[in-house]
Amino acid sequence: MVQLTLPQNSKVKTGKTWPKPDGTNVKKFKIYRYDPEGGENPRWDTYFVNMDDCGPMVLDVLIYIKTHIDSTLTFRRSCREGICGSCAMMIGGRNTIACTKGWDEIAGSTITIAPLPHMPVVKDLVPDLTNFYAQHAYVQPFLKTDTPKPEKEWLQSEEDREKIDGLYECILCACCSTSCPSYWWNGDKYLGPAALLHAYRWLIDSRDEATGERLDDLEDPFKLYRCHTIMNCAQVCPKGLNPAKAIGEIKKMLVERVA
Ligand code: SF4
Ligand code: SF4
Ligand code: FES
Repeated sequence: MVQLTLPQNSKVKTGKTWPKPDGTNVKKFKIYRYDPEGGENPRWDTYFVNMDDCGPMVLDVLIYIKTHIDSTLTFRRSCREGICGSCAMMIGGRNTIACTKGWDEIAGSTITIAPLPHMPVVKDLVPDLTNFYAQHAYVQPFLKTDTPKPEKEWLQSEEDREKIDGLYECILCACCSTSCPSYWWNGDKYLGPAALLHAYRWLIDSRDEATGERLDDLEDPFKLYRCHTIMNCAQVCPKGLNPAKAIGEIKKMLVERVA
């Protein structure tokens, strides 16, 4: 068996265990802690929460811990309604958003909470999404037209409007891209499922007039073709979207324009 020796500062150590409160409905949470500026190794801190005092979602648990136990715990959140995408993290070994994930949906006596995998960590549960957002910007996620602007809105038939269902709902949480093995190993060159889903959202929009240009920008051995249809992306999307299908449709458009 291959023996790997990890660099000293990359090993995740056991951290602090906080006191257990009284009560019969107490749950244990192991949470990843890391401050790149502190010079110390990442660690797993253990917290106990009396669930009778806490709301139903994992985000409620994090807010409870920050308010009542450890104010240094760092995470992102904004809407708490599954709309902003900012509370994405790995909960119980699976990428999802903390505000719509009930803690009672996770099996086992201990719930682990870690940042989205394979991304640099800004602090604790906050990943650095700079590259992810740059990839979103690369696909030019806005309407591009040559036709002079109409006096009112750009019109679209009901049938054409339906074509963007399952695409426009994306909240850019990054759960899909950070669960994709192709993205883990080539995240600097492969655009990843989220950016490609957005690319398809504009390719299929009947009002957009930059289809050829958009396809040219994607026709590359890495940007698009690193997707090997492993389907992790569709399995984890908290909005129930299917980026793999969108990627397949882009590949089809590229084949059809050559034929
Ligand atoms: S289907 Fe493609 S994008 Fe989705 S996880 Fe697999 S390789 Fe990644
Ligand atoms: S496709 Fe789903 S998982 Fe991916 S960024 Fe959009 S909402 Fe998140
Ligand atoms: S806080 Fe906005 S999606 Fe969770």
